[in-house]
Amino acid sequence: MDVFEAVDSRISCRAFLDKPVDPGVVRDLIVRAQRAASGGNLQSWFVYALTGEPLKEFKRRAADAIEGKNPRQFPTEYPVYPEKMWEPYLGRREHHGVQLYGALGIGRDDHVGRIEQHKRNYAFFGAPVGLFICIDRKLGPGQWADLGGYIHTLALLARARGLDTCPQEAWARLYKTVGEFLELPPEQMLFCGMAIGYGDHGHPANSFRSPRAELPEFCRFHGFD
Ligand SMILES: Cc1cc2nc3c(=O)[nH]c(=O)nc-3n(C[C@H](O)[C@H](O)[C@H](O)COP(=O)(O)O)c2cc1C
Repeated sequence: MDVFEAVDSRISCRAFLDKPVDPGVVRDLIVRAQRAASGGNLQSWFVYALTGEPLKEFKRRAADAIEGKNPRQFPTEYPVYPEKMWEPYLGRREHHGVQLYGALGIGRDDHVGRIEQHKRNYAFFGAPVGLFICIDRKLGPGQWADLGGYIHTLALLARARGLDTCPQEAWARLYKTVGEFLELPPEQMLFCGMAIGYGDHGHPANSFRSPRAELPEFCRFHGFD
């Protein structure tokens, strides 16, 4: 698979096959993704990887933490989104909801169904591997951006091994549960999680392709004519 295919075939995968992933492959991906660029080569990422029994135990704790609750209302350590969204971001996010919940047959007013689907985040959507990506809380926006580079490098390398991924900021809402389980040092803050496994490409959750803005909406060219 070349890099264009890897980029083109990456989706945020929200349903995985019950098929184990070779732990050595995951370890190798985590190492190779370190080739991601970072300002000043600070390499601001800390990665925690769970599979097998530790993942099962962790998922039990996460399930307990959200039992009977709406985790969307849990506080986060950092503002995942601005409190009030505006265009064009608002429309894009709404469209994402229409695509995802529409594919799953969950209606606009089905609040319970929406919460239940959101809760699947906290089981890593059934993936056999779960990662947590953390950062030193004293680092700034430049280093947070570098985390994105690491996450995407990992996601694209995973494609080359036939694996699928889903970055998950939803985990920021369970930062206490994650922090306690991983025994995170106080200077580290959880940014997001990532599910890794073999995607179930017949599942409705993976049946749509997210759109992107047209070129003039986000890029101005100078001297390209
Ligand atoms: C940092 C980050 C956090 C995300 N968090 C979640 C999440 O918590 N749950 C989820 O289902 N998708 C999550 N996504 C996936 C986005 O919804 C997805 O990237 C976007 O809709 C575009 O779709 P695509 O990744 O399939 O191209 C996240 C993506 C990124 C980059």
